[in-house]
Amino acid sequence: MDIMETIRQRHSVRQYREDPIEPEIRTALDLCVEECNEESGLSIGIMYDDPEGFDSRLAHYGKFRNVNNYIYLAGRKDEEIDERCGYYGEKLVLRAQQLGLNTCWVGLTFRKKRIKQLIGPGERLCAVIALGYGQTQGKERKSKSPEDVVVTEGSMPDWFRRGVEAALLAPTAMNQQKFVIGTKRGNPAIDILGHGFFTEVDLGIVKYHFEAASGKKVLKSRE
Ligand SMILES: Cc1cc2nc3c(=O)[nH]c(=O)nc-3n(C[C@H](O)[C@H](O)[C@H](O)COP(=O)(O)O)c2cc1C
Repeated sequence: MDIMETIRQRHSVRQYREDPIEPEIRTALDLCVEECNEESGLSIGIMYDDPEGFDSRLAHYGKFRNVNNYIYLAGRKDEEIDERCGYYGEKLVLRAQQLGLNTCWVGLTFRKKRIKQLIGPGERLCAVIALGYGQTQGKERKSKSPEDVVVTEGSMPDWFRRGVEAALLAPTAMNQQKFVIGTKRGNPAIDILGHGFFTEVDLGIVKYHFEAASGKKVLKSRE
């Protein structure tokens, strides 16, 4: 399926069916995890059939139900780990969507004690992604418009317009969408508006959407 279609179809889903994920779907996702880890140096993993990761009062309070599978995003601490986890985590989210699964990024409402056991010494757990067959496909939510986030003047080339559309459809923590998109020396550049709650993870997610839809590499934050 066209990546833009996948991006349009994805919405956060917090309630899942009990059906286990089929072996061939697991194989395809595990392959994608391997690729992501190789490229990024992160230690991303998937736990299948483990309801304990979301078996906490906080998770239920957060409206999560039947989360039996999840992706955990972790790696050695460095300045860019959060952004990198966002970028590769979202690559996995869109792969999962293409494979017929649903997802939801989770910053806080999982069972920390349980999931931290999976993380190596000296590594940081950035976030978790709930995974499975949703009870629904989720729903559209409010979004900023291109005029709210584009800071470059003048007409937008098609690839830029596509990138912006995809960036606005990206999940961000509490739907905060605290980013701006412009160009530097003809290359797309995305910046966050102030450092706050999961903004660096959001930045990585938004960059992945922009790149996947536009086919253009976004400049690194310090370029
Ligand atoms: C880094 C990050 C952390 C998030 N943490 C939570 C969370 O703890 N609980 C929750 O219910 N949703 C969480 N979300 C999901 C967002 O609320 C959701 O992505 C946003 O409202 C946009 O909706 P959409 O994903 O359907 O486009 C998180 C999203 C991101 C990107």
